[in-house]
Amino acid sequence: MSEDIESLIEAAKRARLQSVAPFSDFRVGAAIRTADGKVYTGCNVESASYGLTVCAERVAIWKALSEGERQFTDLAVVADTETLTPPCGTCRQIIWEFARGAKIVFANLEGKTEEFQIADLLPRAFDARFLKKSHDIRD
Ligand code: THU
Repeated sequence: MSEDIESLIEAAKRARLQSVAPFSDFRVGAAIRTADGKVYTGCNVESASYGLTVCAERVAIWKALSEGERQFTDLAVVADTETLTPPCGTCRQIIWEFARGAKIVFANLEGKTEEFQIADLLPRAFDARFLKKSHDIRD
């Protein structure tokens, strides 16, 4: 595995330690690298109104987008599970829309890793292409 990916996994592991997960006790960390090499991290943050919980992947992506980043090369997701934890359906949609080109790496704390592309995790995705007409103010 490349040094870049290893360091991204380490960043996701550190972010995982900030996880706010009093309800599930399931800690997740994520780290996303931009095309110019910057890394943004995220952890899951749970709400007492469970449905408002936000996953680590989306926190990392929102942080990067809100700082003006638009191009991403790699995304690492770390949880303490033997079978590597994949992104939930909502996160897959967000990864498709905002980090489509990124290589996705799942990892656990024991050093097990696996790489994916979002197109394989979310085939036939819905996205803005289907909305183009309604976005055209001349219509
Ligand atoms: N979670 C993530 O942060 N990312 C994933 O990929 C899977 C699930 C979080 C959401 C919630 O805080 C906890 O894990 C249990 O679902």
